[in-house]
Amino acid sequence: MQAQWQRDGYAVLPGFKTAADCEAACAQAQALVEAFDPEAGASRFSTRDRRLVADAALLASAEQVQAFFEEEALDEAGRLRVPKSRSINKIGHALHELDPVFRAFSRGPALAALAAALGLQAPRVWQSQLIFKQPHIGGEVGWHQDASFFVTTPQTVTTFWFALEDATTDNGCLWVEPGGHLGPRGVLRERFVREGGRLRMEPLDATPWPEAAQAVPLPVAAGTLVVFHGLLPHYSAPNRSARSRLAYTLHVTDGRAEYSPLNWLQRSAQRPPPGLA
Ligand code: FE2
Repeated sequence: MQAQWQRDGYAVLPGFKTAADCEAACAQAQALVEAFDPEAGASRFSTRDRRLVADAALLASAEQVQAFFEEEALDEAGRLRVPKSRSINKIGHALHELDPVFRAFSRGPALAALAAALGLQAPRVWQSQLIFKQPHIGGEVGWHQDASFFVTTPQTVTTFWFALEDATTDNGCLWVEPGGHLGPRGVLRERFVREGGRLRMEPLDATPWPEAAQAVPLPVAAGTLVVFHGLLPHYSAPNRSARSRLAYTLHVTDGRAEYSPLNWLQRSAQRPPPGLA
């Protein structure tokens, strides 16, 4: 694993979670969706400045469990146009702290040992996300680097991406640029900056995103953990298939590195992000 991690910037670990782990996580995800009140969510989108309200909702989700809609799920008035169970894009960002099922899923000796092997001596779990790729309307997530959202000096953010359902090229699996975290290709191209209550993406470097020929798909079975380097360019395609593709992610930094005060997700000294043990 180490050799692939160094060279490619990612590693694929099949069977990291059991079928029972995945089934429990999927069931809990479904329960969270059922408990979610879409009218309360819709009201967030009915004010005049949608951007401001969306920023406020994202900021509030840092220490909560909030559902976010799929873009194509709402009409102009902010009303659902698909069943609630098919409307959610993601749920975040403190599942690993507040939800009992995901709290257990997000820690333990195997995860702690893996983080140590990847060089994260003092792991800090900043966020957790359930990422739904809903059948037919699951949206594309374009090329990006996760370090844009979690700047540390030196760069340490590492993504733990768990397939809770099979991820295929048909339902929107990850695509990566192997080795794209190294050398001139591994420059951070943009960063997501918080200024007061506003959030914006700030361009940093004009290095182009990978060409289609440089992208490699990572189809994986449920239970697989894909870990990847914060500077590794990756994307996922839309899901136009009839099968959902549910994934769960953790973003982990090394507490020894300096965490930028401009990152969108901030924690008070009294409530530091948890570790993995
Ligand atoms: Fe990402």
